[in-house]
Amino acid sequence: MQQSVSGFSKFSKAEKINWLISNYFNENSDAKSVLKSYWNSNEKLQQLHDEFIENTISNFYMPFGIAPNFLINGALYTLPMTIEESSVVAAASNAAKFWWSRGGFKTSVISTTKIGHVHFMFEGNSTILKSYFENIKPQLLESTKPLTKNMEKRGGGILDLKLVDCTKKMSHYFQLETTFETKDAMGANFINSCLEQIASTFETLTQNSNALKGYQPKIVMSILSNYVPECLVRAEVSCRVDELTLDGHFSGEEFAEKFMQAVRIAEVEPYRAVTHNKGIMNGVDAVVIATGNDFRAVEAGVHAYAAKDGHYASLSHASLDNGIFKFWMDIPLALGTVGGLTGLHPMVKLALEMLGKPSAPQLMEIVAVAGLAQNFAALRSLTTTGIQKGHMKMHLLNILNQIGANTTEKEQLVQHFKTNSVSHRAVVDALKNLRD
Ligand code: MEV
Repeated sequence: MQQSVSGFSKFSKAEKINWLISNYFNENSDAKSVLKSYWNSNEKLQQLHDEFIENTISNFYMPFGIAPNFLINGALYTLPMTIEESSVVAAASNAAKFWWSRGGFKTSVISTTKIGHVHFMFEGNSTILKSYFENIKPQLLESTKPLTKNMEKRGGGILDLKLVDCTKKMSHYFQLETTFETKDAMGANFINSCLEQIASTFETLTQNSNALKGYQPKIVMSILSNYVPECLVRAEVSCRVDELTLDGHFSGEEFAEKFMQAVRIAEVEPYRAVTHNKGIMNGVDAVVIATGNDFRAVEAGVHAYAAKDGHYASLSHASLDNGIFKFWMDIPLALGTVGGLTGLHPMVKLALEMLGKPSAPQLMEIVAVAGLAQNFAALRSLTTTGIQKGHMKMHLLNILNQIGANTTEKEQLVQHFKTNSVSHRAVVDALKNLRD
């Protein structure tokens, strides 16, 4: 049985690694050299990464790829994508090229409001609480002024504060619901600091007041919500249906019909919707990670939005009206282009620079496009050739690396598989044949 360890965070990096090796690896293991091989020789850069989190002992690389030819609202972008799945960047690039010659992507930011709550319990009379809240609301807001001053200078701040009676969901449960505009910041720290200040002022005021007839609200917690249906962006593509004709195999109408059926299936069938939306998130997450944003927050918010009508459904939709095919998606995205990692991580800074240093709303548009493009590419493959052909082609190098092919063998086998279908077995056999 392992012994627990105390004071671990105070250990030096070398001590942490030694502790790990002696507890989890045998003495012949190469774990230490693997960990060290991922250290950056630039000590300042390594220290920066060490200090992002606690107990850093090495780095974990993800590929940083780029997908060119994204025409968005008439301007050309090359998207930075951080992702390990072989086929995603290729699919994004294909979709970008496809729509580049058909008018490109159009986007619009629908709203940028974020939300947070002070969750509390109150056992007294809710009507009294409501009128008491209206009386103290200016004081609650005033107490956040030192925190909101800078944000207000940038055009943001607290938009509204209201009392919400949630006692139908849970006995005695109320919220102080606060809405925010955080401009180019994702705003999590700003929002949480404001909420904690509101909670603390609320607690102090209610403690010293007789107005609530002896009933004291009990604060449970103060936290932003990652459900941001009011921080919403739309991305869409459209073209004449005859422009969808694919390589002579499908007429535009045939392709559009099958494509719309695939989307409709994801609208009505949760099993399919989850995978459909996962494909969207392949594009979304890759750009979100490359630009230093919180992909867990984005994931949680997006999937909640996909279930907003009471069942989990497709985020994207397609239509064919008067000969015009349209494919679009509304997606909630709380993103930042200042604060957090954006000014710290050199690769994030580079990614934002190649996007032309976008504002947060512009980044919402770019990320939504990455998601829609990815979804289009997946549905196009699924409804025509099937997904595996392209996927396995992109996965070929992973298989070759896994089975130890050298550079010359890889070159020869990549050639070979240009005209043969890829499977793990086929690659193993082909390498064996080559070596024999
Ligand atoms: C794979 O990462 C994503 C897909 O499964 C998405 C989809 O099925 O729409 C191809």
